[in-house]
Amino acid sequence: MASFFRRKIAAKVGRTLQQSEEAIIPALSAVPVFKKQQSDDFKLSLSTLRIRGILPSGGDIQQQTEKLASQLEQDTVVEAISAGHGAVHFQVNRELLVQKMLEQFEQERGDAFGLNSELLTALKTGTTVVEYSSPNIAKKFHAGHLRSTIIGNFIANLKQSLGNKVVRMNYLGDWGMQFGLLGAGFSQFGCEEKLEKNPLQHLFEVYVRVNKEADHDEVMRQAAREFFRQLEQRESKAVSLWKRFRDITVDEYRHVYKRLGVHFDVYSGESFHQDQAQEAVQQLQSHGLLKTSEKGTRVVDLSPAGDMSSFCTVLRSDGTSLYITRDLAAAVDRMQEYHFHEMIYVTDKSQSSHFQQLFQILDKMGHSWTDRCRHVPFGLVRGMKTRSGEVVFLEDVLDEARARMLHNMSQSKTTKDLEDPEATAETVAVSALIVQDFKGPLQSDYTFDWDRMLQAQGDTGVFLQYTHARLCSLMKKNERVDAVAFDSSLLLDPLSITILQHLLRYDEVLFQSAQDLQPKHLVNFLLKLSHLISSAHRDLPVKGSSLTLAKARLRLFSGACSVLASGMRILGMTPVDRM
Ligand code: ARG
Repeated sequence: MASFFRRKIAAKVGRTLQQSEEAIIPALSAVPVFKKQQSDDFKLSLSTLRIRGILPSGGDIQQQTEKLASQLEQDTVVEAISAGHGAVHFQVNRELLVQKMLEQFEQERGDAFGLNSELLTALKTGTTVVEYSSPNIAKKFHAGHLRSTIIGNFIANLKQSLGNKVVRMNYLGDWGMQFGLLGAGFSQFGCEEKLEKNPLQHLFEVYVRVNKEADHDEVMRQAAREFFRQLEQRESKAVSLWKRFRDITVDEYRHVYKRLGVHFDVYSGESFHQDQAQEAVQQLQSHGLLKTSEKGTRVVDLSPAGDMSSFCTVLRSDGTSLYITRDLAAAVDRMQEYHFHEMIYVTDKSQSSHFQQLFQILDKMGHSWTDRCRHVPFGLVRGMKTRSGEVVFLEDVLDEARARMLHNMSQSKTTKDLEDPEATAETVAVSALIVQDFKGPLQSDYTFDWDRMLQAQGDTGVFLQYTHARLCSLMKKNERVDAVAFDSSLLLDPLSITILQHLLRYDEVLFQSAQDLQPKHLVNFLLKLSHLISSAHRDLPVKGSSLTLAKARLRLFSGACSVLASGMRILGMTPVDRM
């Protein structure tokens, strides 16, 4: 296992440099593999040792590298040591590599592979609140909400697999003037029957219609203000209509999220923090942080010089709260409720300054835990359209993705004997959405492309699923071969070794993803693994090989399959056995 070798090498280097194993480990990493080129297994970065003050940072780094390499001696585990470019390279005993890597799949459940690594122990920190998706009732569910949903789900899965308690939270836009309009509009344009049958659609229609009316009709605007006033005063008729809209929406969303493989522990929302928002303002007041602007609004001065060159409004002149005021209250409330070690907000990057201001104000209020809050911003998706046009509902994207995938699958022979082709198509299509979204840095914008993302070849979610299904079918065909005991000397060919070397990196990849919360590291790792696996299907046949060779290869395939499956699960995909 990666840890075993990393520790051995670190101990060896540590003895030479008179350092502990722990001090050396951060400078060690598995060498990324290239398909047609043999490489060493681990490298020790000299610049990291210098940065960490373990080696003097003056002098020629290459000389230092060569000197260190010559001081280290081979042993039964580490068979070759050489000086590379600014790094010492290590090759471990081949047979030991095979044994140590593959024995993990019998000892632990395969999906625990890599998770017990010493690299990851420090990342188990306590409770993580992840707030994601957070659509607005009666408004459009846009591409940004979809991105937030799948990114947040990934972060929650990752944190959870590292051993943290995770609170998955949806913070609905369920308060504000939109409900004034909706409430006032519903009595005129609403239809109970439609609301029952297709709630999201109907609420959206009413909302669009009433907005149009309000544009030119003062009476409508007046009615909306009146409804919202009633709501803020908690008048029971208004509240019960609002509650119905909310309940119906949450029910619908739950259903659609399930199709995406996403769930939430808490459906919170802006409405929950309505009253607390006023308390938060009082606290700002008592900390002497509140000022009154010329317009009569209440603001917090955020300028370094205290000259109001930048400020944030927290109360309107009529005393009502704003988006940020509710966020302030919500953050404090969540801290009290969950004692989180970390809270992560996932929204598009246009809200970056909102969160910056939020954190600044929390900090000014003296909340020492502010540095445990983090905003994960992501870029825009261009051109997410379905055949019927612009996307308004998440459901439409899922329907279209499923239909397109089903069409592609109908071209293939194996689809015919699937039990539920629609369900499989949907699962695979969701993976395609995820990989398209996760391949690049989250901050980048990208263009939505149905054809490209659904390709079976190439770096897509379909390819990952296809690889997984093919491995499952290989294993099923050989169900009766008992591969528990196998001969590790039969897996010393270059491709088998390359696959195992690639698996050595898995814990490092999880570590990296947990640091910067970017899924691309894991996606690219799994894509590479899948490419290696498809070479292995060609070059390391099971069928036609002797029983001992077949056993050894099956063992390798099954190990690769469990890493693929658990990586996919962390990303938010459900691996399929057949497609
Ligand atoms: N509902 C908001 C929107 O659609 C996103 C909420 C983000 N979370 C927060 N705590 N402000 O833009």
